[in-house]
Amino acid sequence: MSNENKQSLPGVNEKPKRREMSRRQFLAYTLGGTTAFLAAGPTIPMVRFAVDPLLRKKDEAAMVKVVEESKITTEPKSFKFQAHQVDGWFESDPEFEAWILKDEQGSVYAMSPICKHLGCTIGWNNDPSTPNQFMCPCHNAHYDKNGKNLMVAPAPLDEYEVEVKDGYVYLGGLKPNTRG
Ligand code: FES
Repeated sequence: MSNENKQSLPGVNEKPKRREMSRRQFLAYTLGGTTAFLAAGPTIPMVRFAVDPLLRKKDEAAMVKVVEESKITTEPKSFKFQAHQVDGWFESDPEFEAWILKDEQGSVYAMSPICKHLGCTIGWNNDPSTPNQFMCPCHNAHYDKNGKNLMVAPAPLDEYEVEVKDGYVYLGGLKPNTRG
């Protein structure tokens, strides 16, 4: 192939042109990058703070160690415990109470102390005229050992989720009564 033919093909022997960056472009890129880097510093923690409670798994299901199983009998006993709660951006460790006992088959269960009438706190065996019952002093609601509502209250006492592990009773969230 002759040299004449080579010259007739446009672009074959041309060196690629290098694109030069102007001083203005260089400054714009550098300042833009620096600004973005500096802005990301405070922004990333702010974004994380804003969405973190939405991404975090709810702690509601966490079980709390409350008492040794050996201390639980068929007679209800009151125990207090603290549970860590996360409500959106607010975290707290409120105190709860549970009436914990065993049924005749030896299964552990736990009752909420909150009366289903208007929310006062019940007691066990606190009315001599009706032994072996939970009684609410506010308007005289009565419940049996399983939390079944006997008078005044419109529903049975709520139950806690219960787990017995390594000799200890763990309690979780409240659920509707399964016994009453
Ligand atoms: S609140 Fe318990 S009986 Fe009314």
